[in-house]
Amino acid sequence: MEHPPASTPGQFKAATRDAWESAAQGWDAQTPHIHRWLADVTDVMLAAAQVQPGARVLDVAAGAGDQTLAIARRVEPGGQVLATDISPAILALAERQAVNAGLGQVQTKVADAEHLDLAGADFDAAICRLGLMFCPDPLAALREMHAALKPGGHACTLVFAPPQDNPCMALVAATALRHSGKPPRDPYQPGTLFSLGKPGLIDALFAQAGFTGVRTTAVPAVFRLPSSAAFLDFIRTSAAPIRQLLAPLDADARAAAWHDMQTQLDVFQGANGWEGPNTLLLTVGRRAPD
Ligand SMILES: C[S@@+](CC[C@H](N)C(=O)[O-])C[C@H]1O[C@@H](n2cnc3c(N)ncnc32)[C@H](O)[C@@H]1O
Repeated sequence: MEHPPASTPGQFKAATRDAWESAAQGWDAQTPHIHRWLADVTDVMLAAAQVQPGARVLDVAAGAGDQTLAIARRVEPGGQVLATDISPAILALAERQAVNAGLGQVQTKVADAEHLDLAGADFDAAICRLGLMFCPDPLAALREMHAALKPGGHACTLVFAPPQDNPCMALVAATALRHSGKPPRDPYQPGTLFSLGKPGLIDALFAQAGFTGVRTTAVPAVFRLPSSAAFLDFIRTSAAPIRQLLAPLDADARAAAWHDMQTQLDVFQGANGWEGPNTLLLTVGRRAPD
């Protein structure tokens, strides 16, 4: 999932926003699969951030709101969630999911994670599930999360570990790059899928942002689906940066890229269905008490 290259930070952000605007419906439609994939690790993340009844929680890069709803249920009674995202379309879907679930404690704010503008908001906790790595300046985003917390509040993020620990995502990204005629990239290029998997980087950024007690744990998150075709469908419909990489190709060339990915993904098919291994990095830190 590589966002398209852009020559200025503003162009990068605009391309990121457009990519997720176009994938918003797809990500929302894939939510049942995403929910099953990430349910356990989301529980661990919310426990690490000490999300509990009555808490006020900031959800950064909330997407279509799967983890937003989990937070909203966990803070009942009396708590609140503010879901933020750079894409208005995907955030509108999160809002609709919350309304449909009868969770009136969810509010939304369209915001770039690097410019949340929530300093002094005194949140008890701030989380970001699979969004921070798409920020070209993740330190700025972590500083914004730190500023939004009350003293003593906790932040917790989930990002992808290095490519070798996420072989299916890595092969999809590499294959899309190759078919789009682009050379292989530094896997840790800022703003791209594996950028925060670089050993030691996310701990250093948390510390630089002012967090104390920083610790990172590698957590397995196997993506189980009925078939490789179902995983490819997930990528085709919801992985906006991959879609955007392949968008300039003609229909035949695009079909060849999807076919190439499918062939490689078939290797992960087993007797009990398709199992894509993934490893995520869960990082927690605390804003020092006054
Ligand atoms: C992989 S999705 C994750 C969504 C959701 N947190 C989840 O786990 O289902 C990545 C999300 O990050 C958002 N995003 C990317 N760059 C962002 C930025 N600079 N600021 C805020 N959101 C951003 C996208 O719009 C998208 O909703």
